[in-house]
Order: sequence, then C-alpha cells, then structure tokens
Amino acid sequence: MSITAQKLNFVYNAKSPFAKHALKNVDLHVESGEFVAIVGHTGSGKTTFVQHLNALIRVQSGSLVVDNHDLSSKKLNLKALRGSVGMVFQYPEYQLFADTVLQDVCFGPKNFGVSKEQSEVLAKEALALVGLGEDVYNKSPFDLSGGEKRRVALAGVLAMKPTTLVLDEPTAGLDPRGKKEILSLVKRLNKEQGITVVMVSHDMDEVFENADRVVVFKDGEIVYDLPPSQLFQNEQELVAMNLELPQMARVLNVLRQNGIVLQGDLRTVDDVANALQNLKGGDC
Ligand SMILES: Nc1ncnc2c1ncn2[C@@H]1O[C@H](COP(=O)(O)OP(=O)(O)O)[C@@H](O)[C@H]1O
Ligand SMILES: [Mg+2]
Repeated sequence: MSITAQKLNFVYNAKSPFAKHALKNVDLHVESGEFVAIVGHTGSGKTTFVQHLNALIRVQSGSLVVDNHDLSSKKLNLKALRGSVGMVFQYPEYQLFADTVLQDVCFGPKNFGVSKEQSEVLAKEALALVGLGEDVYNKSPFDLSGGEKRRVALAGVLAMKPTTLVLDEPTAGLDPRGKKEILSLVKRLNKEQGITVVMVSHDMDEVFENADRVVVFKDGEIVYDLPPSQLFQNEQELVAMNLELPQMARVLNVLRQNGIVLQGDLRTVDDVANALQNLKGGDC
C-alpha cells in the first residue's frame, strides 16, 4: 500500500554537541504497487529514512503515513504496522538465530500469535517463494551459502505476508548470482503479487534495471525523484554526487549525444540491442 512522508525531519543526538540533522524536510509519496529505489552517497540519510517506515525510528517532526497507519501518532498500532511493512535490514542474515531454517522462518508468524501448524504452512510457502525447498527445512541456517542465508532471512519477512517490502541494500556483499536471485525475487514479488517495494541500493545497474522511480538523497534531502531513464541523463550532476552511472544509461547517453534517440523503456542489454536492431531495420 502507499507511503506518504511530508516534511519529515530527523536529528540524531538532538540538543547535544553531536547533533546530526539526518533528514531535512523529506517529502515523498510512494503509490501502492510501485518499485522505488533510494540512492545516495554514504551518510545521505537513506537508512534513517527507511527505518522510519516500520517505526524503528519514530517520527520527530513532520508526518508519515504508511498503509493507513499514522506513524506520527502516539496511538500507532506497531504490531499491525510491522505485519504489513516487511523490513529487510542490511546483512539480514546476521539476524538468523534458530537451530533450523524452518524454525527461523516460523518465528515471525508465531510471534504474531499464529498457531504452530499455520506458521509452518506460511513458512513453507515463503521458503518456496524464495526458491528454497524441503531439503533445507531442517538444516542449520549457518550451513547455507551467503545467498541462501539471505533468502532465508527474506523468507522470514515474507512469511508475515507484508503488503510493503522495505529493503536496505539487499544485495550488498553477494556474488553476482546471489544478487540476481534476490533481485529477480524482489521484482517478481512486486510485479506478480503487487507488493510495494522501497529498496535502498548503491548498485546503479540494478536500480536502472528494476526501479519504476529513483529517489536521490543528498545530505538528508531529496534532490531528485525521477524514473531511471530520465534521472541518469543528468550525468555530470550525478557524478558530482559520487554516484556511478548505470552501464546501460551511459550507452544510451552516448547514443543520444550522437543523435540516436532510442524509444521505449530500455533497461537491459537485450532491450538496447533490440532497439538498435529495430532502428537499423527501419533505416535500411
Ligand atoms: N545512530 C546514529 N547516531 C548518530 N548519528 C547517526 C546514527 N545513524 C546515522 N547517523 C548519521 O546520520 C547521517 C545519515 O546516516 P544514514 O541514514 O545511515 O545514511 P546512509 O544510509 O545514506 O548511509 C550520517 O551522517 C550518519 O553518520
Ligand atoms: Mg545506510
């Protein structure tokens, strides 16, 4: 469901000499079913912002409404909020703790008062969603590969059947295969189940390929909020903010500078190759 932040401000260690104004008048609306990426240099406020979304950090000033929950209200129903907003932290595998994979994924629903039997049903469904089968149910989570551990952590969140998924750098530290598995899963959840996705990422290629919109944070403020195809045309401004350009965006920018403007929503090497082929076909 949707997210609306208005004039959200947050100061760490307020009233101390170490006060840090981490969010400054952040206005952001995310529509139900959107896939929004949040990017920005280290320390720009990305994590502070997303930790507000399931009230890990409470609103200091401004307003924030997520899935009809008013997060600035003292009467906030935390349990209901956290049931609908699934939060995948950075390095979520560090939070695996149970003896077996199945027990670990059952923890969330059980904690919410779901029966043992029903929790297992939900856990098995969630594990299937992340591509893990019966063979891992009784394994120790610590015996799995890095990518598998992260998928178990994600299954733990999905077992709660969230309507919104917030992920803070979900592919950091994974090998290319692990990255691809996580991203295709997140994309599938978004496209097939309509789950709203807010994903912090420092990998501009994955942002370019997957996000409907990209929000750029700089020193606690939102400086851009654009579809990827438009955002990455601002090459110099982004480089000045220490942001990399996606490979495909660079190719499209070079083509554009040479008078070749390709039409359509082009995200991948295949998309661009096909568009070039069509162009050639049309010209000949
Ligand atoms: N727990 C904290 N206490 C004090 N300052 C913090 C804390 N967490 C983050 N900060 C500061 O707030 C700013 C934003 O941090 P963060 O939201 O983690 O940025 P990002 O996720 O974009 O790297 C940074 O200057 C950071 O040093
Ligand atoms: Mg961060």
